[in-house]
Amino acid sequence: MSTSIYRIGDVRERPLSGRPDDPPIVTALRYGVTAPSAHNTQPWRIELISDTQARVFVDPGRTLPHVDPPGRQLLIGHGTLIEMTSIAATGLGFRPEIDMLPDGEIAPTDIGTMPTATIRLTADPDITADPLFSRILHRRSSRLAHLGPPLTPEQRADIEQHARIPGVDVGWIPRDILPDVLRIAADAMAVEAEDRDLYDETRLWFRFSDREIAESGDGLHMDTAGLSGPALLLGRMFTRNGNWHKAYNRNPYLSGFRQAVGTTTDLLTVSMASNTMSDWIIAGRGYVRADLAADALGLRVHPISQALQEFPQMDKLRTELEQLTGTAAPAKMQMLVRVGRTSPPGLSPRRDLREIIDRG
Ligand SMILES: Cc1cc2nc3c(=O)[nH]c(=O)nc-3n(C[C@H](O)[C@H](O)[C@H](O)COP(=O)(O)O)c2cc1C
Repeated sequence: MSTSIYRIGDVRERPLSGRPDDPPIVTALRYGVTAPSAHNTQPWRIELISDTQARVFVDPGRTLPHVDPPGRQLLIGHGTLIEMTSIAATGLGFRPEIDMLPDGEIAPTDIGTMPTATIRLTADPDITADPLFSRILHRRSSRLAHLGPPLTPEQRADIEQHARIPGVDVGWIPRDILPDVLRIAADAMAVEAEDRDLYDETRLWFRFSDREIAESGDGLHMDTAGLSGPALLLGRMFTRNGNWHKAYNRNPYLSGFRQAVGTTTDLLTVSMASNTMSDWIIAGRGYVRADLAADALGLRVHPISQALQEFPQMDKLRTELEQLTGTAAPAKMQMLVRVGRTSPPGLSPRRDLREIIDRG
């Protein structure tokens, strides 16, 4: 069994590896590209316009067409990148200005050629650093079991207050329906894992060795999978590319998932009153603020997105969840997120900014 080079406490945690003479937009983006994205695809490409301006595009090679057919989670990921870059800019003494979808909504044929955002920074000696800046390099998702008591009302209120930016409706699943929602979330994961095409998409983004992790700088890997104890040992022994769809690989994962989800006491929701592309980006901005605020409280987030997804195999469970939570179109729950204390999770990798930037 190999020891992962991405273990917690590793001094290489989220390295920024910048140079002192980097332009301000590059320094801000170094923080930005540590943003969370579905399957850790990091689905962005960045074009530098000047030392203080950049445009962000979808990288068409980094989409999830089976599990995310509308590209909703893809653009939530762009929201997380944009927000983290903006927060970093304030910490570096710059005022960020963001134009979301500056050329309008992106048609499927224009993915990769139409920008999701323009980011402009202006030096401002009076700017106050966003307090979430200090959490950027620490935050990470944890799929592990929750330990300890439920969140206090003050902790919930603190997370809500940081995440509630205009348009974003932040809430918590009420405790009386929590068991039903958790059951739907676990069943939804089984639907995804038992469908060959859907689960194959996870295989494509799964990195099976430290070498693959280091070479790709993206994707998911065993130490971040959320298994612990015997299930993690089994997973490490049996998870090989060729074994992916075998029951002896999938079942320990699903039972580990059910166990971890079963420990949840606090489920955060991020919803929007409508469901447009700009709503998706804004939801991502709110979500990552919740993530950073949770980190500041010593808590970790774990999105459990399957039951929100739009592929037809999920219609039944998605409708059940919407009815239970009273969500009716055009409103849409964009993120459903476990929040709690966990043991230290594994660190997920990031690509070097140089691979992501086009110098225009
Ligand atoms: C839109 C979106 C959806 C996500 N959905 C899931 C999910 O369903 N299950 C999960 O374990 N993680 C989910 N994640 C978390 C990502 O997998 C995670 O952010 C990524 O692997 C990077 O790891 P990190 O957050 O620890 O940096 C989601 C993240 C985003 C932004």
